[in-house]
Amino acid sequence: MATQTIVILDFGSQYTQLIARRIREQNVFSVVLPCTVPLAEIKALNPLGLILSGGPSSVYDADAPAADPGILALGVPVLGICYGLHFIVHHMGGKVLSAPKREYGHAEVQIEDSTAKLFAGLPEVLQVWMSHGDEAGQLPAGFRRIAVSANALAAIENVERRIWAVQFHPEVHHTPLGSKLIKNFIFNICGAAGDWTPAHFIESTVNAIRDRVGKGHVICGLSGGVDSSVAAVLVHKAIGSQLTCIFVNNGVLRKNEFASVQKNLREKLGLNIVAVDASERFLAQLAGVTDPETKRKRIGAEFIAVFDDEATRIAEQTGGVDWLVQGTLYPDVIESSSVKGPSQTIKSHHNVGGLPLEMRLKLIEPLRDLFKDEVRRIGRDLGMPEDILGRQPFPGPGLAVRILGEVTPERVALLQEADEIVVAEIKSAGLYNSIWQSFAVLLPVMSVGVMGDQRTYAYTAAVRAVHSEDGMTADWTPLPYEVLKRISSRIVNEVRGINRVVYDITSKPPGTIEWE
Ligand code: XMP
Repeated sequence: MATQTIVILDFGSQYTQLIARRIREQNVFSVVLPCTVPLAEIKALNPLGLILSGGPSSVYDADAPAADPGILALGVPVLGICYGLHFIVHHMGGKVLSAPKREYGHAEVQIEDSTAKLFAGLPEVLQVWMSHGDEAGQLPAGFRRIAVSANALAAIENVERRIWAVQFHPEVHHTPLGSKLIKNFIFNICGAAGDWTPAHFIESTVNAIRDRVGKGHVICGLSGGVDSSVAAVLVHKAIGSQLTCIFVNNGVLRKNEFASVQKNLREKLGLNIVAVDASERFLAQLAGVTDPETKRKRIGAEFIAVFDDEATRIAEQTGGVDWLVQGTLYPDVIESSSVKGPSQTIKSHHNVGGLPLEMRLKLIEPLRDLFKDEVRRIGRDLGMPEDILGRQPFPGPGLAVRILGEVTPERVALLQEADEIVVAEIKSAGLYNSIWQSFAVLLPVMSVGVMGDQRTYAYTAAVRAVHSEDGMTADWTPLPYEVLKRISSRIVNEVRGINRVVYDITSKPPGTIEWE
């Protein structure tokens, strides 16, 4: 069964991904494409409907995004949002003006025709979020106004051409009934079936992988995190023993992680895993290194070397490896094709691993259409344990970027103990799932303490807990005093070598989540 798809063309709005999410929440598949995508590519997807996003430009700007006006004549229903509305008006013969008053923030919209399909079931007055400078002055022939705000026209339609457009943003939560409007578009106007469920996704993905791979052999690097685990389980469901997973102990994993990931994925889910304990190789590379970027680079290079060795061995045993599974997610895909400019690199190597260049394997990316929470939903449907699916993000270079100064086996062991206490206490306070990341950092700062009658001189642990949506920005979490108290007292009492605990109260920006 073909997947019904709503195509969203991205004109550069910061809310574009939200439109996709709102649609997917209704069990309808949607993809975001740059607005400059060739018409043929849109047609090839056989879209059920098209949404034109907002964007920062004015249609009269010299550098206004160069979308093909042919998108308005595909014959499928179109919904323009903000800039999308201006695009429609401008390219169909109307006039867009610079509004006398910029409208930004909460606004009230008066619906003028409540029989309009877009507004079915909505009240006559809508609370909405506006964010625009331009507005529609003169409508193109065949269009009529169906809603207004105090300062501007708020919605238009041309039923014959199947084109609708709104000046406000139905996708943001500041437009409380916006989801209903989007539902009206995808169900009442586009006629979506709402059958894009986890079960549907799993079935179609598994079939597609089987068809592509045939009798080929596939390898997958497991990190123990959500994405690579779900990707591996999906591929395993498709091709079983043709998949070999490689799980590398880089010496800077969390306490017991090397064993527990194997137990979860091999014993509980039946994956074929080659577990490589390369701790010594990695720790030898890290000896004497204190610079954060050098740590990342050494770990990255060593990972590729170890992975390469294992892949070569597997290729010898199986008669050749053809494919590599990667847990790429949708936000990475959009990010790399978006119309926005490149952002500055603050830390290199956010994804340790990657394709060993000389192997030139073909890629399987079963999650490249999904957002993180959708990956978790799929994982649940695949019967994966919550302790994998609910896991907080963990950086590729692991504890190495949480040990300031040199990474030695002794320091790794100290941090593993402290980290385990932080995670255990956060979990027992019922906070683990609502926090983006919570962990300990080992500082190379020694201070004096007293234990019993003994003077101590030992390291400091910093505790960090942050709330975040995507890791790009973050707020420090005000952990309850009781939880902080237990964490501090347990670390100082149970971890010999740490005698002081401090709490990091820095948000991002200006801080970063990891200390290195
Ligand atoms: P920062 O420290 O840049 O972290 O605020 C943002 C998010 O990225 C993770 N992170 C990394 N992940 N390799 C990774 O795979 C890295 O080198 C790396 N550095 C940071 C971090 O844990 C947080 O979720």
